[in-house]
Amino acid sequence: MILKPADWVRMDFLAVFLFLIGISSVGSVNRHDFKTCDQSAFCKKHRAITENTGYQLLSNTAVKYSSSEFRAQIQNSQNKLDLRIFGIEDSTWRIQIDEPEGALRKRYVPELALNGIPKATNFKSVEIESDKTTITAGDGKQKMIIQYSPFVINVYNVFGDLVLQVNRDGKLKFEEFRKKEEGKEYPEGFWEETFKSNTDTKPHGSSDVGADISFIGYRHAFGLPEHADAFSLRTTKGTTDPFRLFNLDVFEYELHNTMALYVSIPYIVAHNANSTTGMLWLNSAETWVDTSSSESSKSLFAKVGSFLSSSGDSIPHYDAHFMSESGLVDIFVFTGPTPQDVQRQNAKLTGTTPLPPLFALAYHQCRWNYNDEKDVAEVNANFDKYDIPMDVIWLDIEHTDGKKYFTWDPNRFGTAKDMINNVASTGRKMVTIIDPHIKKDDNYYVYKNAKDKGLFVKRADGVTDYEGHCWPGASEYLDFYHPETRSYWKSLFSFDSYQQSTKDLFTWNDMNEPSVFSGPEITMHRDSIHYGGIEHREVHNMYGMMYTSASFDGLMARTDGQDRPFILSRAGFVGTQRTAAIWTGDNAAQWGHLEITPPMTLSLSIAGVPFIGSDVGGFFGNPDEQLLVRWYEAGAFIPFFRAHAHIDTRRREPWLFSEATRLQIRDAIRRRYALLPYWYTLFYEHTQDGSPPMRPIWYEFPKEEKLYAEHNAFMLGNAILVRPVLTADTYSVSIDLPQGAKWYDWETGAAKPSGTIYADAKLGSIPVYQRGGTIVPTWQRIRRASSLMKDDPYTLFVALDENGSASGEVYADDGTTHEYQKGQYLVTKFQYKPEKSNKFVFIGEPSEGGKYPTKNWIERIEVRGVKQVPQHIEIIRASDPTEKLEFTYDRDLQKLVIRKPAVSTGQSFQINLQF
Ligand SMILES: *[C@@H]1O[C@H](CO)[C@@H](O)[C@H](O)[C@H]1NC(C)=O
Ligand SMILES: *[C@@H]1O[C@H](CO)[C@@H](O)[C@H](O)[C@H]1NC(C)=O
Repeated sequence: MILKPADWVRMDFLAVFLFLIGISSVGSVNRHDFKTCDQSAFCKKHRAITENTGYQLLSNTAVKYSSSEFRAQIQNSQNKLDLRIFGIEDSTWRIQIDEPEGALRKRYVPELALNGIPKATNFKSVEIESDKTTITAGDGKQKMIIQYSPFVINVYNVFGDLVLQVNRDGKLKFEEFRKKEEGKEYPEGFWEETFKSNTDTKPHGSSDVGADISFIGYRHAFGLPEHADAFSLRTTKGTTDPFRLFNLDVFEYELHNTMALYVSIPYIVAHNANSTTGMLWLNSAETWVDTSSSESSKSLFAKVGSFLSSSGDSIPHYDAHFMSESGLVDIFVFTGPTPQDVQRQNAKLTGTTPLPPLFALAYHQCRWNYNDEKDVAEVNANFDKYDIPMDVIWLDIEHTDGKKYFTWDPNRFGTAKDMINNVASTGRKMVTIIDPHIKKDDNYYVYKNAKDKGLFVKRADGVTDYEGHCWPGASEYLDFYHPETRSYWKSLFSFDSYQQSTKDLFTWNDMNEPSVFSGPEITMHRDSIHYGGIEHREVHNMYGMMYTSASFDGLMARTDGQDRPFILSRAGFVGTQRTAAIWTGDNAAQWGHLEITPPMTLSLSIAGVPFIGSDVGGFFGNPDEQLLVRWYEAGAFIPFFRAHAHIDTRRREPWLFSEATRLQIRDAIRRRYALLPYWYTLFYEHTQDGSPPMRPIWYEFPKEEKLYAEHNAFMLGNAILVRPVLTADTYSVSIDLPQGAKWYDWETGAAKPSGTIYADAKLGSIPVYQRGGTIVPTWQRIRRASSLMKDDPYTLFVALDENGSASGEVYADDGTTHEYQKGQYLVTKFQYKPEKSNKFVFIGEPSEGGKYPTKNWIERIEVRGVKQVPQHIEIIRASDPTEKLEFTYDRDLQKLVIRKPAVSTGQSFQINLQF
């Protein structure tokens, strides 16, 4: 390999970095860099709890309530705590346990992660008895029973079923802030803790909290992203380390374990055939979750009533013991009862992803690094030469002048603005990387200004700037809790400030765990200090989210709110979805990493982060052609679709392989572009109700118990089931098509029986099915970029259910601006249904409210599952005379194709099908 001078510089640095973090051999994660539960004083202590910690609710003092808040105190031999319970809109509860007034220090509550202040709902009734209090809320069907001794909170759903218990196992533990007393014994690591060569000073001592939460009646639970593990959460208790939630930059992460990764979302959703229940542990400190799926005798629940609808003597339950280094016990319970309800309830609390610009849903081409402007121009031209659609070219850290973000390498990207404009002139966009570590260099304006304004995170002394090593060498880290940092950061994105940037340039926020090569566990020291005296340990998991939200504000401000931002982030927390897409970080070009992509992205999706994907091809290493093709085939059906590769890998643009491979990659990407109207509609629907575009099978088929753990196959919206090939040399796969629906092969339209089927999946094809009863909009005129397709006519795929009906919709707007928020959008609803025994109708109806003057029209309708050939088809439009339509009918496939209805989706129409 010939290295250019600039590469040498980086390689030297990489060597330094490897030395710094003690990696001797490249090839797998260095587990010793990261703590186990045993090496974490608070995790070890909480996990060791075996006896009930003995909290009781004090029934005679301090029990009071207002219209939507209940207050009481609980006490054990260690301390007395405040309990507060709030009724929240849409069948949601909030349970908070904190130190009473007079605590030595205020605990951090990550309210900024929420989508504004939670909306209270009034209690309907509060019934205080000598041994328990019963609260009902909302329409009275939302019920909670607080048992005093032992202290247990029981939550019921609208069916009256007990679905969740807090402190059922009596593991509630709360270290209050204390003054250090000489001669007194404290638990291990209480005032100071050392891991490897780093000592964490704890000037305020320990303030860890923990509680157990049981999902009653449930065997399966999901969530707790991000882990490279199965979708259905495993049992960790007694088998392995608890799931760890601590945002970390893990070099070459391992699969199938519970180690922490880049994102931490302390959210679990449990599902059974009757109901779904969700729960958020709102805490931004390091958190471990010890889990177990087990069963208990029904008699154990007798105390809280005989309301369990499940039959049999024993009841399954999924238990999660949450343990956090600091913060409150702050629990939100979403009582569903359907998967859709829980998803919406969580979305109301934590927010949704705003509608992305259309290009963001298309294909992204990235590499560390495209070397210079000429390289970018060639890559751009080659996509056209080989007729492969592509929307965005990305630049990694090497595009900068010495890893100083917001600058350009003067030799290689000296005329960056021309480069961006040239790419934009072909209908495409660009993205540059912008990381939170700021090179320590007085000649770098960002460093100088931030230093002068005092905007960096401070060391434990609270005065001197915190310093660490990252890509630029010695770096400092902006403190995004400081309001001035946020306004300064926002200003950096303006076109005046960010030299050579244009509105076609978007943002990638990497390394925002934050990654500190020289820090403990490759991140920031926990005792470093943020604005307002917040210790880093209190907010660690939220740092990346605070960072991307500041970048989002910057992208908004640069066009005065006209254009939609696009940001990709590696780190994430509750609420990240409001400002960024997430990818699964530095994976590897191995089959296992392709295979883990659906479970990892499903976990994020179900936890409220819908815009997710993995590096197509794998970041580290060189994929062989088969793996690369399979990854493109899968990636085309996953929300965020970007190819990316490490700087040491061989170039892997699609035309560098055999012709067969190139064409297979091209086909995969073209499949994505054909479905863009459907993706765009799904992201629009997400903004309305929080529904995730990519969803598990159980979300659509809640009673199919044998598919609860399924994670190789998944649904896109309610209409499409995908089963990508995820293993080597696999040319046919078995698929369970859920019962209770008719199914059709997506490509051919052939009907498929539900149940287990075997699908051909030769290289170059992917098993995809359409569910009967749905209508999917597509674009069939594939062009070089989505911006050139957005006004194209639609081909609609109508798949009939058992009754010969189907429905669906398509969303359209200008694809880039916020004008849709002022009514410049259009939702057109479609319905196919029987009208008389020998007549069916297909109706298109633009919704009221939207007034986007769409150019889209319908050029073809393919109806699947039509039992006989129609005699006559005509269309009735508001504007034109009734017209006869041409059609073809395939008797073997029972497929009807209505050719050229030629009707705009902006107007109402009806097609009559006479049989
Ligand atoms: C669902 O409810 C039915 C009837 O109430 C009950 O028989 C069944 O056991 C329940 N299933 C589960 C998984 O709770
Ligand atoms: C078909 O119609 C029957 C009777 O109206 C109804 O019970 C059933 O749910 C319908 N099937 C679907 C898939 O909508």
